[in-house]
Amino acid sequence: MDKLLIEGGHRLQGEAEMSGAKNAALPILCAALLTREPLTLTNVPQLNDIGTMLKLLAQMGVAVQRDGSVVTLDASGLDNPLAPYEMVKTMRASILVLGPLVARCGEAKVSLPGGCAIGARPVDQHIKGLTAMGADIAVEHGYVVARTSRLRGARLFTDMVTVTGTENLMMAAVLADGETVIENAAREPEVVDLANCLVAMGARISGAGSDVIRIQGVERLHGATHRIMPDRIETGTYLCAAAATGGEIRLTGTSAAYLDAVVDKLMDAGCDIRTEKSPSFEAIVLRAPRRLKAVSIRTAPYPAFPTDMQAQFMAINALAEGTSIIRETIFENRFMHAVELARLGADIRIDGNTAVVQGVAQLDGATVMATDLRASAGLIIAGLVARGETVIERIYHLDRGYERIEQKLAALGATVRRLS
Ligand code: UD1
Repeated sequence: MDKLLIEGGHRLQGEAEMSGAKNAALPILCAALLTREPLTLTNVPQLNDIGTMLKLLAQMGVAVQRDGSVVTLDASGLDNPLAPYEMVKTMRASILVLGPLVARCGEAKVSLPGGCAIGARPVDQHIKGLTAMGADIAVEHGYVVARTSRLRGARLFTDMVTVTGTENLMMAAVLADGETVIENAAREPEVVDLANCLVAMGARISGAGSDVIRIQGVERLHGATHRIMPDRIETGTYLCAAAATGGEIRLTGTSAAYLDAVVDKLMDAGCDIRTEKSPSFEAIVLRAPRRLKAVSIRTAPYPAFPTDMQAQFMAINALAEGTSIIRETIFENRFMHAVELARLGADIRIDGNTAVVQGVAQLDGATVMATDLRASAGLIIAGLVARGETVIERIYHLDRGYERIEQKLAALGATVRRLS
């Protein structure tokens, strides 16, 4: 299994181009299932999760063409509405095929995702919504088996804000008979990006980005071309990495518009951040002080502070001046990076969903283990500032979500090497 070797102590400096958003690309790839015509997507990041989703779609009968960041999907030959356990278990987002399959084929068999390192993560809300739209759903032998003659529009309310739940139900509703209203909808920018792509395909959707989304079902969707939005979590991760090292960087191909909560906290920590227009989207320029001030955070659905940036902020707080409190309100078991950070010398106390981080003056390199995708990012940030060498094991998590991370970090002056 690959490991990452980081020699700490180099200040990040320079420019890096951000990739398209993994969490926007995954649902949008599934939107291709909704039409017989080709869907062309640009700015698709080259990541293991994207590869897994393309494989899953291909085994359903979707023709996939990939040329770098451009992917064309043709679901005219869709004939196998099945998502097997072997594929779903490696990536929970596979559940996103459920809504489109039921809407287009009137049937689907999708494996339950099961548990993962950051918590139980059930899909009851996806099932509840589809049932309210008239799907007949049974859970048999670990699979969600759904059938319907045609979905009908309905008023849907989710018990909690769920990102993929909202996306699944929105994709199901675009081909349903009549109007669907999703209340308590997720407001994440990736939900808006999906809605924009669906509208380009002929869907009738209003309210995406607010907590009430209205969808008027149509008979059929057509092909379209859509550019995937920039990855706000990748962008936030590089901003944190530069901030932790006292660096100065310019990130292109991205947008600060989706990052208010993160930018705000980095400015509270003492960073100077400004945006510039660049040919592709916007550029964000960050200049960090020699030592950051500790900042407390509380994760919550967008537009509040994202849970996917929690581990990175724990890493910067580990070395900041002062004490911070980190509250995780989305996932019940998302502090596993804390014990790994402690191996590098961080002072972190965990009590339920709260972590108290007392900043220390220095971290020391050690061998640590990545436990999930964003935990890996937190460990990299710590490794970049720790004295000496840090080895991060199980970096396959990282390859699921960060495109060319070693090259991008190296271009910014970090000393990072992959050990196979
Ligand atoms: C998405 C993101 C993930 C991010 C998360 C929260 C993708 C592919 N992944 O995950 O990176 O960390 O949003 O911003 O976009 N829940 C239920 N029942 C359900 C659905 C969710 O109890 O049917 C719970 C979950 O266990 C969790 C909370 O609701 O505690 C929010 O989860 P959700 O927004 O659904 O996360 P994902 O969409 O899986």
